[in-house]
Amino acid sequence: MQLKDNSLFKTQAFISGEWANSDNNETFPVYNPATGELLAEVANVGLNETRRAIKSAHTAMASWRELPAKARCDILERWHTLMLENVEDLALLMTAEQGKPLFESRGEVAYGASFIKWFAEEGKRVYGDTMPATSDRRSIAIKQPIGVVAAITPWNFPNAMIARKVAPALAVGCAMVLKPAAETPLSALALVELANRAGIPPGLFSVLPTSDAATVGNEMTSNTIVKKVTFTGSTQVGKLLMKQCADTVKRTSMELGGNAPIIIFDDADLDLAVSGALISKYRNSGQTCICANRIIVQAGIYDAFVKKFVAAVNKFTIGNGLDDKTSHGPVITAKATIEIHSKVQSAIAEGAVVETGGNFSELGECFYQPTVLTNVNDQMRVFREEIFGPVAPIFKFSTEEEAIAMANDTEFGLAAYLYTEHMGRCWRVSEALEYGMVGVNETAISSEVIPFGGVKESGQGREGSKYGLDDYLEIKYICIGGLQR
Ligand code: SIN
Repeated sequence: MQLKDNSLFKTQAFISGEWANSDNNETFPVYNPATGELLAEVANVGLNETRRAIKSAHTAMASWRELPAKARCDILERWHTLMLENVEDLALLMTAEQGKPLFESRGEVAYGASFIKWFAEEGKRVYGDTMPATSDRRSIAIKQPIGVVAAITPWNFPNAMIARKVAPALAVGCAMVLKPAAETPLSALALVELANRAGIPPGLFSVLPTSDAATVGNEMTSNTIVKKVTFTGSTQVGKLLMKQCADTVKRTSMELGGNAPIIIFDDADLDLAVSGALISKYRNSGQTCICANRIIVQAGIYDAFVKKFVAAVNKFTIGNGLDDKTSHGPVITAKATIEIHSKVQSAIAEGAVVETGGNFSELGECFYQPTVLTNVNDQMRVFREEIFGPVAPIFKFSTEEEAIAMANDTEFGLAAYLYTEHMGRCWRVSEALEYGMVGVNETAISSEVIPFGGVKESGQGREGSKYGLDDYLEIKYICIGGLQR
């Protein structure tokens, strides 16, 4: 990995505006999932460093929140520009530690940068309200920054998931302390180096790499200075964090697991549906929360869909993401491939037919063959659980009612998709789906302008769009009385 700017390769923590080893000089290893190569030994912070970062966030926020919004947002604009100027290096770091192909990494850096730009603009538009007046009083609602925010981010999007939390927080006057995923700290550290270069004041944004998520997470959720915890990751961990936050009644934003259905109706444009399902299912080798997890196809189009879908999957080139020919990279760890394979095997044991793939790949312990399963049913783990890997189970349905019932038959509610050419059905089904986001004839639904988030056990809160600011703001009501004295 040859960076143009080697000073973006950081292995220390960034606390109170300074690069630092952990207090006890401990480190943890970061590996390239495609090759197993050791990429770096990174500072392994613990309780004391977390407390220091939170304290300095509190101090830094006092003057940051008093700045005019424009001054804060000008700094975010500079950060956005620096991200785009360094896209190649950021993408290389990401592919090395996360595994996704370089073209996806470049896309993610641009996606991450778009949140910084968006909130640099939206941060100037935080408006309050006036309530109906009485003769002697006026009632006003103003919005204020919520306070110090702690963020815990995942390895599947090591740049964009940070950007879409930190940008709105800083734009409205909050400070942030971040724990990136232990698998992918290098992207987070490069990002904060650029934030520092852009002029974000010391202490306002600290990054705490650690392999001890429990200790750092526990401090983030219990420290009384922290007023909000924002998390992207599994539902299981999200529930734990919410419980931990309850003691100090912190606000939480949770972007948790998904089990996205993609419903293909008989009247769908077949080629559009196949390409939409492929993109959604296999993006990041199936490791996104909004990946199509259950492909639900109407009986009349089922065979034709399976044939085209399998033919397209067989054209994938899996390999090292640094190789230009690679269309799909590894999954994050060997443990992940074992978990994926156990879901495939359990489906096969219950009667699933393997149309392609179905096994580990000889390319390495983090590679799994792109897989398509048919003859699957709603009792199988591949229906009930999030797969988080390159495995596409294709279910069959007969009626619209049946499709909606299948789609909603899950505790998750993040994203859902449908393909149909029928206008009435677009509306009926979109409104009936119990999901935070619905894509109609489109699976590439993410961008900085839309409210990303789920319902049910997929979480709460929205990221991106004008609504993304609300998660970092408190509404304060001010009553001015005695006007007739
Ligand atoms: C996720 O997997 O949580 C994020 C996907 C996206 O933003 O498109």
